[in-house]
Amino acid sequence: MTVNGTDLVRRARESGYAIGAFNMHNVETTQALTWAAEKADAPVYLQVGRAIVPHMGLRAAYEMTRRVVDESDAEIVIHLDHGPWDEVFEAIRLGFDSIMYDGAHLPFEENIRTTRRVVEVAHEFGIPVEAELGKIPDAGEEVDWDTYYTDVAEAERFVAETGVDLLAISAGIVHGVSASAPQPLAIERIEQIQAVVPVPLVLHGASGVPDDEIRAAIRAGVHKFNADTDLRHAFRDGMLDVWSSGDQQLETAMAEGRSRMVEATVEKMNLYGCAGTAGLSTVRA
Ligand code: 13P
Repeated sequence: MTVNGTDLVRRARESGYAIGAFNMHNVETTQALTWAAEKADAPVYLQVGRAIVPHMGLRAAYEMTRRVVDESDAEIVIHLDHGPWDEVFEAIRLGFDSIMYDGAHLPFEENIRTTRRVVEVAHEFGIPVEAELGKIPDAGEEVDWDTYYTDVAEAERFVAETGVDLLAISAGIVHGVSASAPQPLAIERIEQIQAVVPVPLVLHGASGVPDDEIRAAIRAGVHKFNADTDLRHAFRDGMLDVWSSGDQQLETAMAEGRSRMVEATVEKMNLYGCAGTAGLSTVRA
């Protein structure tokens, strides 16, 4: 069953936990995320992200996700992750429950102007909008973090002038998992942004972040985490384990990948504190 993301995140904020937002890549990963939500009794964002769109097409990815979600009682938000301009409008037409418009690469004033327009259209259809401010490097990139972190004054102005429902910020996270010790999260920066911004904050790139930093980020005001790499690795490890014992049907390997991904997702839901909060009457064994 699909639900309104804003209500879910508001509930998370009131009760001091965060919701996981994870990417689907095929039917097995979509099932894994849905089944994990059932097993953990947790709400979840099922994200159509940047890798799947060129691979499968936005409509096919959406329709496949919707089919899996419609068979479940879990509270699920079908969300477009990092949507460019044209794609967010297509996602609104298709019926996504929530969208992220990514104008973070644009000059600040243009990011405000385009995000405001997306919010106007999405809100007419009752669809919440997430946007991003600040820059997030890929794992392994050497960057000057001060130029990457979200600026506090800009965050305040951006949210006031665009009307976004969720703000994704840069505070030390990277996309992917660093081979060397990762940059610690800038918890103080999260607190400063939270103090001037009325909407819940989002952290992307939550794979590989130590558990104590995830908990500190929740206390500082983060109520949605996007994680993909850790779960993708769990799926891959399950497939590799099956194949290492000799040739097997693709389905046997994918079933093991799916089951490992369910376990890894339930672990994230426990860490974020959203497990046990959905009040499902039927919890998957
Ligand atoms: P990771 O793959 O680093 O967890 O990031 C995923 C993400 O942020 C998707 O928006």
